[in-house]
Amino acid sequence: MSKSFSTITLETDDKGITTVTINRPKKLNALNDEVLNELADVFKDIQIDEAINAIIVKGAGDKAFVAGADIKELRELDNRSGRMASQKGQQIFQLIEDTRKPVIAAVNGYALGGGAELAMACHLRIAGENAVFGLPEVGLGLIPGYGGTQRLPGLIGKARALEMILTGKQIKAEEAHQLGLVNEVSSDPVKASKELLHNILKNGPLAVRNAIKAVYHSDHRSGYQVEADVFGELCETEDSMEGTSAFLEKRKPEFKGK
Ligand code: CAA
Repeated sequence: MSKSFSTITLETDDKGITTVTINRPKKLNALNDEVLNELADVFKDIQIDEAINAIIVKGAGDKAFVAGADIKELRELDNRSGRMASQKGQQIFQLIEDTRKPVIAAVNGYALGGGAELAMACHLRIAGENAVFGLPEVGLGLIPGYGGTQRLPGLIGKARALEMILTGKQIKAEEAHQLGLVNEVSSDPVKASKELLHNILKNGPLAVRNAIKAVYHSDHRSGYQVEADVFGELCETEDSMEGTSAFLEKRKPEFKGK
């Protein structure tokens, strides 16, 4: 990707893993309108860039992943513009969730409000030992507006999600792990994310992409149908032929993404 951004930095390694860094450390990487617009542009490009196989999202600095939507901007919103701002954030985070390449949030420090919601829109989450998660919006007289009321119950169950949303309490990495909000706690979440992605990227690329598609569709009633349709489609690909042949021939598969 050749574009440059003012609040986001991008780096792609030799395995096609792109690290997306939200870069407003003086404001603890809070999501103002500019960050949101740039995130949307970045993820639209990522969807179509064939050189990118997987994505890590992180915040600049050690103190915060993202400390939420920009409260200064929130303060200016009225009923109509508030609804539009919420819809805008939801759509951008949906775009991230809809990415058919694995997306991992590597969370150092605070992931609060819109920051926790951004992490939850990623497919997987690895927390640093200093990570802190919370949806403190009720403490601002608001509710989570970027999908948190929908995604948190799906990840940790309604009762625990409601407790977090209604109290606005903050939880540390270990508790987030016990609740199932994060996959792993690591002293180096970016390194751990890369290791996990290396394991994922060894597999058939079409299978990985379609597994993500099926898992997210299974949130809806049509999930089983999608799973069966995709399974059928994959059965006809060169990759599934290669994967099954390699197993039977006791060798490593060489996938081509076809
Ligand atoms: N929006 C705008 N600015 C923010 C911010 C945010 N969400 N979080 C931190 N900042 C700014 C602070 O105002 C401060 O700026 P100045 O230096 O110019 O004063 C700077 O970042 C550093 O922050 P603190 O001085 O507050 O740092 P701290 O170590 O004392 O506290 C913190 C850290 C506990 C994370 C605290 O900053 C905090 O509580 N932040 C807000 C967390 C929050 O409520 N997030 C939810 C936002 S609402 C939302 O996200 C709605 C939604 O769902 C769409």
